[in-house]
Amino acid sequence: MDKPEFPDHATALVQGASRGIGLALTRALAEDPRFTTVVACCREPARAASLAELAASASGRITTRSVDITREESVRALGQSLDQDGLRPSLVLNVSGLLHDEDGLQPEKRLEDLEFAQLERVFAVNALGPALMLRELLPRMARSDKAVFAALSARVGSISDNRLGGWYAYRASKAALNQLLRTASIEARRRFRNVILAALHPGTTDTGLSRPFQANVPEGKLFSTDFVAERLLAVIDQIQVDDSGEFFAWDGERIPW
Ligand SMILES: NC(=O)c1ccc[n+]([C@@H]2O[C@H](COP(=O)([O-])OP(=O)(O)OC[C@H]3O[C@@H](n4cnc5c(N)ncnc54)[C@H](OP(=O)(O)O)[C@@H]3O)[C@@H](O)[C@H]2O)c1
Repeated sequence: MDKPEFPDHATALVQGASRGIGLALTRALAEDPRFTTVVACCREPARAASLAELAASASGRITTRSVDITREESVRALGQSLDQDGLRPSLVLNVSGLLHDEDGLQPEKRLEDLEFAQLERVFAVNALGPALMLRELLPRMARSDKAVFAALSARVGSISDNRLGGWYAYRASKAALNQLLRTASIEARRRFRNVILAALHPGTTDTGLSRPFQANVPEGKLFSTDFVAERLLAVIDQIQVDDSGEFFAWDGERIPW
């Protein structure tokens, strides 16, 4: 039997499109003739210069939305704006993620580094926001052909693969994200048939998120965002309904939970 493909004139939505891997995914999707519309979301599109430049050169294929996934009403408004514009995405990519920031957030090395407010912020971006995205976006996806909801997770979120320790908030929030996706994939089999859910690990990629931790990355193991975008879209093209609820690396390898 033929494998289902994305429909012609499909819509894709990228959440976390302002920079890094999300920007490269947005660019790749805007160049993919199967997708006529790419909805590119981040908190402040007006201040995302690279995204604005890309949108200006994409002949109307990219439409930007201001979304803060840590705010309930913001995610709800995204869903409503898709309804108003008659857009039903066949592909949703939740890319946003938080590991460190300029306000002193750093991955924890030991228990004494744990702070409630920092744990809360990392969980808000990496797990709770994606949960809201699942709630708002799954019912709005086009499901007559192939449909994929994928979230960028991280191998360090794998519990069985955890041998180094550290990075409590990031690891635990990505593990929570994985469990949320897995749980939604089971409900989707009943309620949103045809939608394939997946957690994706991009590999160590040259972005602001990984920059402070790149010194020990072995030669050839630090990927460009364009390479990763191409690899992740190839994985998305391969996966089928039977793969729903699984965790895949950039090379298609299945990662244990
Ligand atoms: N880079 C790596 O080596 C690596 C490795 C494993 C996994 N990952 C995962 O891959 C994903 C992308 O990472 P990246 O390296 O491309 O990161 P990045 O360059 O730091 O970009 C992060 C993105 O998340 C968005 N974001 C942050 N907080 C947000 C919020 N509250 N609401 C909406 N959007 C928000 C940012 O948009 P605005 O700030 O403009 O809103 C930005 O587009 C993340 O989930 C990360 O955990 C990355």
